[in-house]
Amino acid sequence: RHSLPTVVAIDGPAGSGKSSVSRAIARRLGFAYLDTGAAYRALAWLALDRHTDSSQADAVTALLKDFDYAIGTDPDEYFVTVGQTDVTDAIRSPEVSAAVSAVARVPEVRRALTDLFRSIAENVDRPGVVVEGRDITTIVAPEAEVRILLTASEEARMARRSAEITTQSAQTVAEQLRSRDRADSQVVDFMSAADGVITVDSTHLDFEQTIEAVIDVYHTRMKQALN
Ligand code: DC
Repeated sequence: RHSLPTVVAIDGPAGSGKSSVSRAIARRLGFAYLDTGAAYRALAWLALDRHTDSSQADAVTALLKDFDYAIGTDPDEYFVTVGQTDVTDAIRSPEVSAAVSAVARVPEVRRALTDLFRSIAENVDRPGVVVEGRDITTIVAPEAEVRILLTASEEARMARRSAEITTQSAQTVAEQLRSRDRADSQVVDFMSAADGVITVDSTHLDFEQTIEAVIDVYHTRMKQALN
């Protein structure tokens, strides 16, 4: 039996810099990268594509059987497909962002995607994998060698999001972020660190400093694991 890859689990709210930081960490460590939010988004995309009402749990659950989903785990070749359709960009649309919390709330969806994430993470062709999301440190990979909660103040998160999304006003972006935080926090508590999870607060850190802080936690944890 081959040895399992080292898992770096990173949770945090939208706008914490989680995705870009996780991808950069994976690149630096030579690890694979798994964006679990992208899977929830891809399923929300499929619901919209099929004109399925995302608030209907049964209808959303029924979509799982045709959810032919693929994601790139190479941090330099990121893509998401559903069937033959490349949805890499489409899953970032405001429509998908608005629908995704309802999809992520369905227990059958969470169970199915959690199984999928575990099997993707176990089968990467690299010595390790950075897995990012909302419940990675607690549900998907509680045994991960390195578990981090990446946070930032609401103000900092909103400023980052509105710098990213230039097609909408800062106020619209702030409202959407707040309402998604509210909806998401009813499903999983991603604002507080579970036992053994190290918090990295990026409020006063720039991108490079955040990466360094996460890499420091990684090295500390790996050293501790050897003792
Ligand atoms: O990180 P993101 O914004 O791409 O995540 C999209 C949505 O998926 C978010 O609203 C919460 C949900 N999500 C989740 O419930 N569990 C995860 N592990 C990852 C994301």
